[in-house]
Amino acid sequence: MASIATDEKTEEPVGTDNVVKAKPAGNSKKKLLLMGKSGSGKTSMRSIIFANYLARDTMRLAATYDVEHSHVRFLGNLVLNLWDCGGQDAFYTNYLKSQRDHIFRNVELLIYVFDIESRNVEKDFEYYKGCIDAIIENSDDARVFALIHKMDLIPVEQRDKVFEERANLIKAHSQGLDVSCFKTSIWDETLYKAWSSIVHSLIPNINLIESNLNKFCQVCSADEVVLFEKATFLVISHARTKEHRDVHRFEKISNIIKQFKLSCSKIQSQFAPGTVGSGDGFSAMRVRNSNFTALIEEFTTNTFIMVITSDDTVQPAVIRNNIKEAQKHFDQYIKQIGI
Ligand code: GTP
Ligand code: MG
Repeated sequence: MASIATDEKTEEPVGTDNVVKAKPAGNSKKKLLLMGKSGSGKTSMRSIIFANYLARDTMRLAATYDVEHSHVRFLGNLVLNLWDCGGQDAFYTNYLKSQRDHIFRNVELLIYVFDIESRNVEKDFEYYKGCIDAIIENSDDARVFALIHKMDLIPVEQRDKVFEERANLIKAHSQGLDVSCFKTSIWDETLYKAWSSIVHSLIPNINLIESNLNKFCQVCSADEVVLFEKATFLVISHARTKEHRDVHRFEKISNIIKQFKLSCSKIQSQFAPGTVGSGDGFSAMRVRNSNFTALIEEFTTNTFIMVITSDDTVQPAVIRNNIKEAQKHFDQYIKQIGI
């Protein structure tokens, strides 16, 4: 049986490249609660985003016992302190009663996962409301994300309508809090869209990166430039000079490249048995067709960059040179994150 997580007492890291040991609390350490009924998919999404699981591997996950903590270093000084709260009834009673302060204090962000196929919607909302009350009481400035999950189980043509209805219900039970709702599934790129938005909302000084990425995009005469976090491949920031019709293109790329990185790493470990499958075998990629060139390169210590150009007079070597020149500057900007 697979298990990715750590136990509450030891707080040892899980086996991934971007997970670090617990550090003394500082401004840069953010407490994230991952809550929702048992079987809704919390540990699955955490394992895929932060511990290099493939979606099919999650079928072997056991139910989470009580709370599993993991500390994930995300961009330099930013450490995500994830509390994956097992969703069985007995645990919930504890979270809302005897452990109420301990669980809901100092929360930066609550991520509540709803299983769209749940047979007991009324009870789901009873728990949700309980958690919202506890958050308002203990961490009144926490942000709330609601993930309407397992959307792959709903026929494609009904997804938007089902999502709208459920999102309206969630808002009605949120005591006036401004809740961001996403439809998600571990089987497609929607998971990356939701988690990119979640981490984006946690990055202080994001404007500094955004404005410099805009300048970089113009200097390169690029159509678009996207910055990805290295280990998770979540989108941190993007800039563009041209419109693009596919609004889901970034999370599709996150999903594809993450899978590709994992495949590279598996092949690498076949040649060098015993190495960790963290995706380290991947460092750059160039895709070219008659319409555009896409360069994806390792950029700063914690990021990859993707530069898209449709102007075929712009040579890839020039872009690569620009990327190299920009590296040290962006390393500095990113170091300022979380301080
Ligand atoms: P507790 O630890 O008991 O609170 O449950 P959990 O919320 O952590 O659920 P878990 O991640 O263990 O997932 C339960 C089951 O749901 C697993 O078999 C997953 O493969 C499955 N699952 C997770 N996400 C999805 C999804 O998006 N779609 C579908 N169809 N199944 C999913
Ligand atoms: Mg779990």
